[in-house]
Amino acid sequence: MINVSSAVRGRPGSGARKAVVLGLAGLLAASGVLATAGTAAAGTTLGQSAAEKGRYFGAAVANHRLGESNYVTTLNREFNSVTAENEMKWDATEPSRGNFQFGNADRIVNHARGQGKMVRGHTLVWHSQLPGWVQGLDTNNLRSAMNNHINQLAGRYRGQIHSWDVVNEAFEDGGSGARRNSVFQQRLGNGWIEEAFRTARQADPNAKLCYNDYNTDDWSHAKTQAVYNMVRDFKNRGVPIDCVGLQSHFNNQSPVPGNYQTTLQSFANLGVDVQITELDIAGSGQQQAESYRTVTRACLNVSRCTGITVWGIPDHYSWRADQTPLLFDRNYNKKPAYNAVLEELNR
Ligand code: G3I
Repeated sequence: MINVSSAVRGRPGSGARKAVVLGLAGLLAASGVLATAGTAAAGTTLGQSAAEKGRYFGAAVANHRLGESNYVTTLNREFNSVTAENEMKWDATEPSRGNFQFGNADRIVNHARGQGKMVRGHTLVWHSQLPGWVQGLDTNNLRSAMNNHINQLAGRYRGQIHSWDVVNEAFEDGGSGARRNSVFQQRLGNGWIEEAFRTARQADPNAKLCYNDYNTDDWSHAKTQAVYNMVRDFKNRGVPIDCVGLQSHFNNQSPVPGNYQTTLQSFANLGVDVQITELDIAGSGQQQAESYRTVTRACLNVSRCTGITVWGIPDHYSWRADQTPLLFDRNYNKKPAYNAVLEELNR
């Protein structure tokens, strides 16, 4: 499996930034993986086929599944990027103040890198899965705890993470477009998000720094517009942000919107990459497959959409297993959705 990690890293704001986008295809071409037009053999795995399009195709991985042979075989064969589903979150890595525990995260990173896969970092600052001790801090202590947490995490994996979700889910749902009323917002005020990004840039200058959220897929939604306005403001003021992650958890109440590609392209037009970071789509059969196809095609149609991550491998290990939202069934058979994604990647 090709290691594409060096291809998507690069120092934001420098000339290397543009080269990163073009460079992924270039590097793959130079390594012989990207076949020239007309001679390309269709890839036979998601990661290989995505790489041929200058993208990555990743999966969220749970440390406690790494002993299961079907799980590991499928992971190793199909994906060229890995996200820790829970193991890099604040509650897992700093359960009490200053007491850092990296064992489970290390295991995932080491497995991924040992297989030549890239690693996405998820997530540095999030109001959820936040240990109780953080909630009780006053302003000064919260600021230093947040910055220390970012420094410890991003510092430990410096040079090994292609993209970090620096801040996760900081906006409210619904029509307000407001910042979520989290402990960070309450104690640190509006500046906390950019402070987190500035700290992360210092801690790992070569990682792409992403803002990641859900329900930001429909271009007409207030939350999407609010995130867009924040990213535009950051770019205008030189706050270091390189990418927007669209989680893209879809179901019947929240299907893939018709303007999804418009959303991806609109963010990209601000001068950031977009990544589909937690894709899963409730359903089954051809209907589910067509939704996956739509998402894949939208990403491929946007040159700065650099990769897709699905939020798990087999359906039964999904955070919403009852909705069978993934690409493999419980026996690790490829579902119609898998075939649609692969076909789309190979078009
Ligand atoms: O670690 C404990 C374990 O000690 C305990 O025995 C067990 C009993 O239930 O719970 C374990 O914690 C669970 C944790 O996953 C690790 O498995 C939590 O209960 C469970 O709530 C937690 O769920 C995770 C969820 O985030 C938490 O918010 C899901 O696995 C994970 O898929 C999900 O991922 C989030 C992204 O990070 C952000 N975007 C939305 C996405 C889906 O909710």
